Amino acid sequence: MTDLDSLEAAALGEIQTAQDADALDAVRVRYLGKKGVLTERLKTLGTLPSDERPAAGQQINRIKSSLKQAIAEKKSGFEQSDLQHRLGREALDVTLPGRRQDLGSLHPVTHTRIRIREYFERFGFSVEEGPEVEDEFHNFEALNIPAHHPARAMHDTFYFGDGMLLRTHASSVQIRYMQHNSPPLRIIAPGRVYRCDSDPTHSPMFHQVEGLLVDEHTSFAHLKSMLVKFLQTFFEDEALQVRFRPSYFPFTEPSAEIDVAIPGSEPGNLRWLEILGCGMVHPAVFEQVGIDPKRYRGYAFGMGVERLAMLRYQIDDLRLFFENDLRFLKQFT
Ligand code: DAH
Repeated sequence: MTDLDSLEAAALGEIQTAQDADALDAVRVRYLGKKGVLTERLKTLGTLPSDERPAAGQQINRIKSSLKQAIAEKKSGFEQSDLQHRLGREALDVTLPGRRQDLGSLHPVTHTRIRIREYFERFGFSVEEGPEVEDEFHNFEALNIPAHHPARAMHDTFYFGDGMLLRTHASSVQIRYMQHNSPPLRIIAPGRVYRCDSDPTHSPMFHQVEGLLVDEHTSFAHLKSMLVKFLQTFFEDEALQVRFRPSYFPFTEPSAEIDVAIPGSEPGNLRWLEILGCGMVHPAVFEQVGIDPKRYRGYAFGMGVERLAMLRYQIDDLRLFFENDLRFLKQFT
């Protein structure tokens, strides 16, 4: 019986000093396994005198369960420290600096379009859209450009061959709007337009903003003040010099082109740069859309968004806008 006590003490000692789960399991097998020391002892109970058997049996069983419990405790100790270890290893340090995220920015053309829109919205112009795939009526005829008018040739139009075309200017939106709305009218129509043309200052697709105001007493003076103020605001230069040059558009009479003065290569030198087209809506256009030209007058204007952006940001090649080179685009953040 005393050697059972020392057996227990030895086993408990080994359990306590086991270094890891594998060593612990080896101890379990050695004492409690099928061929373990205690299992063997149980098998030899029969060799003891019959009056000693019950007490010895009880003691062996008690030792077995005490070892089992000690093993279970030790095991859960290992599991706990494993868990602590993993938690420590996988912990998230919320005080570390975050990973940098590159912020995008608006494309200079978008930025310019928004600036134009915001100006005219302040004067009650609403923003209208029209289709980029147009018909000849809205793009040409209704704008007083009949089939064999030379202005058609100047437009370098992309035709689809079924009377449809890619609109060559945003002026088509005036027609669509006037067909469905009665004066007074105040709209701008920003959008993409297309011309079969490509070089450093021309791209087959570019953006325009068309403007139209129709009312009973509209005059060229209104047009002039609206557009001069617009250009001075857009270029953030109240002293910006602006010049109206007589011009010709079939859909306006009289027509003008506006030039702005920009510093030339020599100090004190000025260069005049054409920046937009405008004029008083031609009576023939009003007739096409069922507006009485005796009662109403209107002014219209059209500007190229890229052209304005190039001047404002001093960009000399239009194609930079469409190449999406990040080194270029990042300069506008
Ligand atoms: N549609 C013309 C163009 O694409 C621009 C333009 C000129 C629009 C005069 C107008 C205008 O409304 O009155 O070149």
